[in-house]
Amino acid sequence: MKPKCVVALALPNDIIEHLKVRYDVAAWSGSEAMNPGQLSDALKGAQGLLCALSTRLTAEMMDHASELKVISTISVGVDHIDIGAATQRGIPVGHTPGVLVDSTADLAVALMLAVTRRVAEADQWVREGQWTQGWQSDLLLGTDISQATIGLVGLGPIGEAVARRLRGFGCKLVGWNRTPKAVDGVESMALDEVFETADVVSLHTALTDETRHIASRERLALMRPGATLINTGRGPLVDEAALIEALASGRLRAGLDVFSKEPLPADHPFLSLRNVVLLPHVGSATLSTRNAMVRRALENLDAGMRNERLAWCANPAVYGG
Ligand code: DGY
Repeated sequence: MKPKCVVALALPNDIIEHLKVRYDVAAWSGSEAMNPGQLSDALKGAQGLLCALSTRLTAEMMDHASELKVISTISVGVDHIDIGAATQRGIPVGHTPGVLVDSTADLAVALMLAVTRRVAEADQWVREGQWTQGWQSDLLLGTDISQATIGLVGLGPIGEAVARRLRGFGCKLVGWNRTPKAVDGVESMALDEVFETADVVSLHTALTDETRHIASRERLALMRPGATLINTGRGPLVDEAALIEALASGRLRAGLDVFSKEPLPADHPFLSLRNVVLLPHVGSATLSTRNAMVRRALENLDAGMRNERLAWCANPAVYGG
């Protein structure tokens, strides 16, 4: 009998067929993520789980999945999984670091330019038929990245990749990392000082208990009038209520790819604000990056199903070190 494996998100048929060669696959094909009850039911008797960000996996669900021996997520972030609980139960959690660094860094820079040069606003203005006059000297004026100070919060692989790109723009770079780290061309600063100094603050930390609301009300209040906040990490890195107030008053601008609640509800206050560019969590959304993420996730899944060490494991403590 083949071991059971749950695939908790809709994936192309060729991937499911490939998995079916080795596993008894319970594949989800709904457009909405499985709800907790559906997932708990599906996990009964399953040894493997392949999932992504919209699958929340709690300790309680793991308790009901007594045969589960590997969780593989198609993401680098693992904040949707109770990692402590998985480790306690001896379940390795595979993730996909490295392969989405460049795509996410590109998107962070794209958001910086979109906000500072008002790209989305200008596009909307043209489509609304407002372009009724020729070239105007004061039309949709923005600010120059080359003259700006950019603050990077988190200097891991993505923060570093953003710094590499921005060095080409000639702007001043300042940054903070939890463990102080020298990055070429980036002046190290205390966290509050980055928020106080930069014209654009870009968040590149993982979401943990320590980084939740790292862009707190107090730190947003430290930002310079007219400054921009960019978030391509996770929504809860930002105190969104405080950000909405700062945007509504016109004091700050923002470019956001991630939100505390995804998808963004239709009546969300962000949607009525023009000084924020909103994207639907597409930091890693290029064909080659998504293929690479899936490949890594499948390798992790197969290794776990064979009781081998995962190549990209988010909780190496599960192996006792
Ligand atoms: C991740 O992998 O954590 C990203 O947020 C997905 O784009």
